[in-house]
Amino acid sequence: MTALAKPESKKRRILVTSALPYANGPLHLGHMLEHIQTDIWVRYQKARGHECHYVCADDTHGTAIMLKAEQQGVSSEELIAQVHKDHSRDFNDFLISHDNYYSTHSEENKDYSEKIYTELYDKGFIAEREITQAFDPEKQLFLADRYIKGTCPKCKAPDQYGDNCEVCGATYAPVDLIDPFSTISGAKPIDKQSVHYFFKLPEFKAFLTQWLSNENLQASVANKLGEWLEAGLQEWDISRDAPYFGFEIPNAPGKFFYVWLDAPIGYMASFKNYCDTANLNFDDFWDSAQAEKQGTELYHFIGKDIINFHGLFWPAMLHACELRLPNAIYAHGFVMINGEKMSKSRGTFIMARTYLEHFQPEYLRYFFASKLGNGIDDIDLNLEDFVQKVNSDLVGKLVNIASRCAGFITKRFDNTLAAELPNPELQQDLIAESENIGNAYESREFAKATRLIMALADRINQYIDEQEPWVVAKQEGREAELQGICTQGICAFATLITYLKPILPELAVKAETFLNANLDWTHLEESLCGTTINKFKPLLSRIENDGVNKMLDAGKPKEASKPAKKKKTSAPKKDSDDKTIAPEIEFDDFAKVDLRIALIAKAEHVDGADKLLKLTLDLGEEQRTVFSGIKDAYSPEDLEGKLTIMVANLQPRKMRFGMSEGMVLAAGPGGKDIYLLEPHAGAIPGMRVK
Ligand code: MSP
Ligand code: ZN
Repeated sequence: MTALAKPESKKRRILVTSALPYANGPLHLGHMLEHIQTDIWVRYQKARGHECHYVCADDTHGTAIMLKAEQQGVSSEELIAQVHKDHSRDFNDFLISHDNYYSTHSEENKDYSEKIYTELYDKGFIAEREITQAFDPEKQLFLADRYIKGTCPKCKAPDQYGDNCEVCGATYAPVDLIDPFSTISGAKPIDKQSVHYFFKLPEFKAFLTQWLSNENLQASVANKLGEWLEAGLQEWDISRDAPYFGFEIPNAPGKFFYVWLDAPIGYMASFKNYCDTANLNFDDFWDSAQAEKQGTELYHFIGKDIINFHGLFWPAMLHACELRLPNAIYAHGFVMINGEKMSKSRGTFIMARTYLEHFQPEYLRYFFASKLGNGIDDIDLNLEDFVQKVNSDLVGKLVNIASRCAGFITKRFDNTLAAELPNPELQQDLIAESENIGNAYESREFAKATRLIMALADRINQYIDEQEPWVVAKQEGREAELQGICTQGICAFATLITYLKPILPELAVKAETFLNANLDWTHLEESLCGTTINKFKPLLSRIENDGVNKMLDAGKPKEASKPAKKKKTSAPKKDSDDKTIAPEIEFDDFAKVDLRIALIAKAEHVDGADKLLKLTLDLGEEQRTVFSGIKDAYSPEDLEGKLTIMVANLQPRKMRFGMSEGMVLAAGPGGKDIYLLEPHAGAIPGMRVK
């Protein structure tokens, strides 16, 4: 009799991308959510035997990167080379399995960007017209809204951004700002004309309406796109004036492609670069007719903030150039920490590297998976939850199965598993769940997948509890039973690890070494019975609670009183006094500073200090001791009775001469010229400075 061959499921050919991170800074946990989500999906596809390629790149162009490089005293090329190294290392350490991690500043990308633009131009989809924009006359640079600040026209709060006020919430245009200034040079912006190039998006309304009906789009994404379509499409400005770090537009000297034009083309460029080494045919995946014939698939994983670029501009461009369309764009929500947006001042803007310095990557991979559905809800990284989930699921449930059974197999049975399972139905039940678990992975319902897998782990732990191998082990003549129970546990463990492999690839490798086996989803039915295993070594350790606090502390802004060490000798930004300007802070950062009027009640010399005076400051309710370097400007007796402004909530700092409990603020270039406040009837010690 011949066994019935299972119907061969069709081998799919899939290309997957994650959004290209900007090359202007380090990766943070928001980026990691996206790449972990994509990576799990890609690994799942590969596990099911499909051909799946995963490419990404750094998004290297634009004003922000150009200015950042300038600030650091390096060229844009040098900056993006360094960032590419850092990003690649972070992704690698988070076990992200990009097949190619490239750069948009590449020959391939220049080539495709020019080709696509030229085709759009030749087909009449590019408009040219003069527009008026804010211009920084000092820096000789057109200013995007975010580079203009001024006083809010509504509530008069100073220092508000060009499009909305963080104090009263008003929205307005940069021209409405009172006393506007360029955040780059401080100069007052002027209006200036320049010719820009536009992509005629409105001509694609019918096409986009049809594209919207694509059943693969998430409902939330389709709704968003629908709203935009209804509100009316605008022509899209795709050019920027020099100086700009990017690609110059063909036949338009001094004009550059806006970064968002060449960024998605970067997906193609990265894939092209990979094709050359992986022996793949580029057109199979990108030429519209050929992709259709071959049935290849394309998916873009992105965050919800960039749906318009991927759901409107990009498909319209592709369609216009007879390039293939994505089968779907999969959008996700934002990472929140303890229920709030990540914030630099709260120390919860956690960089990928900071996390890696404290925890293993798989803890976060598992945690994110356990939270991810296929919608665009934000994902809350509640840090207590994180510790609890990892410890209870991975250590307490999963690894526990192996550690409860392996010892007996090693000590009592010379590492050999029983030839048969005592309860084959139980193992069959586990294997039968592969369909449900697989469907959950396929539809990006990773939370559901982990729930299903953990429910199986619970069942196995319950089986072991009931069978009590530790009791059986002590009774004579029950050897076979003991070996059977432990074999049952080990085989179940192998199945569970197979299911979790897309999420926990490194743990899976360790488990494979322990089990002397390859754990393949395509070979779930293969039994380990009768094989030998290796000595069990702990596969994962529990997370310690204080690890989280250490990580948060590491992410907190450094003490303000310590001057930051200068890294580069080529000084970055200068102001008129030729002193380095401190890095820009957020309003949140500023709001945290508690400034108070303080009366200098006593001022004394400090033995052995040339510059310091010991001040006793009266804050009304309390007195503080502060050491201040103003001895060149004042003798102690001149100071007593003067007022000053102090930072009252600065962390106390131990100095050589004692504890300093705050900091005194004074104006002036330093040395002999430092100015404090003269006593004033209205200024009461302890009063808050606003
Ligand atoms: N460079 C563009 C993307 C170009 S794609 C052709 C960009 N870069 S980004 O660095 O700002 O963001 C990269 C991806 O990370 C985006 O999908 C974005 O949604 C995602 N995230 C950035 N911050 C995030 C969180 N806090 N949480 C989750 N994802 C977020 O946009
Ligand atoms: Zn306001």
